[in-house]
Amino acid sequence: MKTYLLKEEDVHKGNLILVNKNYPLKENSKVELESFNEEYENILFSRSANTFLQFVLKEIKVTNQIVPVSGYRTKEEQEQIFEDSIKENGEEFTYQYVATPNASEHQIGLAIDLGLNLDVIDFIRPSFPHFGICNEFRETALKYGFIERYMKEKEQITGISAEEWHFRYVGYPHSEIMKVYNLCLEEYIEFLKQYQENPFVYQNYEICYLPYQEKEIELDKNIQISGNNVDGFIITKEIR
Ligand code: DAL
Ligand code: ZN
Repeated sequence: MKTYLLKEEDVHKGNLILVNKNYPLKENSKVELESFNEEYENILFSRSANTFLQFVLKEIKVTNQIVPVSGYRTKEEQEQIFEDSIKENGEEFTYQYVATPNASEHQIGLAIDLGLNLDVIDFIRPSFPHFGICNEFRETALKYGFIERYMKEKEQITGISAEEWHFRYVGYPHSEIMKVYNLCLEEYIEFLKQYQENPFVYQNYEICYLPYQEKEIELDKNIQISGNNVDGFIITKEIR
């Protein structure tokens, strides 16, 4: 079986990395990007996550009711958005809805803001309500690895106000587990730490936390590894 030597830099890579003001992103955290589609070629998103995003839109038969509003952002773009918002909306609003530079998931390419295709679309807070086609998206997206990242009830933990338009790709089954157990990403990363010796089992998946150490691990096509951007790795194994 093939093996892989886990290195410190791998802690900061992968679909499950936690990026917030306590755990800013690292230079190497960025993923491979592609355009959302031909019509929105300036909106970039993780290549692998975009494949699943397009599956979701197809499954719920979206034609043009939902549009991408903001995908990957460079550090400079995040800085600009932050500064402009401070000027236009003030500090309180900005800290609620715009992550400080290097604390934004948009900078790793795994977050996308979606909005209803209205005449006027607010760039920072697009409309993506909890009913109709938007909710159909939300429910279907869970099966494809997406979470609604910033929920009202988790504001104290995430430090960001409810953002019903901001979706983060974490991969399946993690998206579904977080929903079923009502955990935001900060809580999920912490929750998994108890599953070091014995895995957390969810349906046909075994999930383990591995604290960082330079270690050779066996690779197989049923095993996925992601850093957590904190102190280790999450190993996901499909068992049947
Ligand atoms: N709106 C989210 C928090 C961001 O700026 O990354
Ligand atoms: Zn966003």
